Amino acid sequence: MKPSKHFASDNFAPVHPAIFKAIAEANTGHVKAYGDDPYTDAALKKLQAQFGETADAYFVFGGTGANVLGLKTVTESHHAIICAESAHINVDECGAPEKFTGCKILALPSPDGKIRVEQIEPLLAAVGNMHHSQPKVISISQPTEYGTVYTPEEIETLAQFAHQHELLLHVDGARLCNAAAHLEMGLRDITGDVGVDVLSFGGAKNGMMFGEAVIFFKRTYGKAFPFIRKQGMQLFSKMRFIAAQFDAYLTNDLWLKNARHANDMAQLLAKQLAAIPGITITQPVEANAVFAILPKEAIPQIQQHYFFYVWNEATSETRLMTAFDTTQRDVRGFVNAIQTAMKH
Ligand SMILES: Cc1ncc(COP(=O)(O)O)c(C=O)c1O
Repeated sequence: MKPSKHFASDNFAPVHPAIFKAIAEANTGHVKAYGDDPYTDAALKKLQAQFGETADAYFVFGGTGANVLGLKTVTESHHAIICAESAHINVDECGAPEKFTGCKILALPSPDGKIRVEQIEPLLAAVGNMHHSQPKVISISQPTEYGTVYTPEEIETLAQFAHQHELLLHVDGARLCNAAAHLEMGLRDITGDVGVDVLSFGGAKNGMMFGEAVIFFKRTYGKAFPFIRKQGMQLFSKMRFIAAQFDAYLTNDLWLKNARHANDMAQLLAKQLAAIPGITITQPVEANAVFAILPKEAIPQIQQHYFFYVWNEATSETRLMTAFDTTQRDVRGFVNAIQTAMKH
C-alpha cells in the first residue's frame, strides 16, 4: 500500500480535527452574513489578543488574496514593491500582485530567501524620478520560501529603514506560526512590535481548511480594505466559517502546537538525511522545510512512493516539507525509501 503522507507541501495535509469540529459547531442557525456575526467578532478579538489591540484584521479566503489585497490597499499603480526573487508574490501568484496593484515588482537575488537593507538602498535612487516606479513597500516572507527565518532584529532593521524612507514593511506570513515556533516568540513580537505595517497571516498551511487574515498594524492603513476586499472578490458571505476556524486555531495554542510539531519533524528529517553520504542539506532548517540535494537518479523511484518537488532541476535540489500531521514513522518511512532508491 502506498503511504498516505507526502513531503511536498503542508498544503497537502488535511484539516486539523479541532478546526473541523469548530466548523461543525458553527453550523447551526442563522447569523448575519459578511462578517457581522458573533463568530467573526470573537475571532477578531482573539487575533487582537495575539497581535495587539490596534491590530486591524480582516479575513480572506487564501494566501494569494491576502498578499495581493493587503498590498493593493497601501499602494498606487506608480509604486514599486521590493521583495526577494524567490518571494511567493514574485514567483507563484501568476502576476496577480502586478495585475491588481499595477505596481512594478523589484525582485532582489537572495540565496537564502532573505533581503537586506544594503540591497534595497540602491533602489531608492529612483525616488522622485518621474520615469521610475516609486518604491513604496518592502515585502518579506516569514519564514522565507527557503524555510529560513528572519530574526526580530533583522525585521526591525528592515522596518526602521523602510520608515526612514517613507516605505512600508509587508510580511507574507503564510507560515508565520512556523517562524514564531522556531524563534520561541509570540506572533506580535515578530510583527507589529518590530515595525511590521501589513501582514498576511496564514492558517491553511498549519491545520485550517481555508482562510487567512490581513492585518494592518495602523488602523489608517486598512481603512479602504473592506472595499478593496469586495472588489477583489475575497469577501466571504458565510464569514462565520472562516472566523470559527481562526477562533479554534488561536485557542489552546493550536497554532503553536501544530507549527512546533511540523518544525520538529523537519529537524528530524534533516538530521536523518544529513547522516546519509551523498545527500547535502543546502539551507539552515529553521521552519518546516528541508532543502536537500538528492542523487538525481534516485528521485523518480522515491517519488513513486512519496511525492515532493524538485526545486532546482539543474542541481537536483529538492524541497521537502513537513506538516502538523507528519509523524516520526512517516519520516522513517520516507528516509528508508530514499536509502533504498539510492542503493539501486
Ligand atoms: C509563502 C507563501 N505565501 C503565500 C502563499 C499563497 O497561498 P494560497 O495558495 O492560499 O494562495 C503560499 C502558498 O503556498 C506560500 O507558500
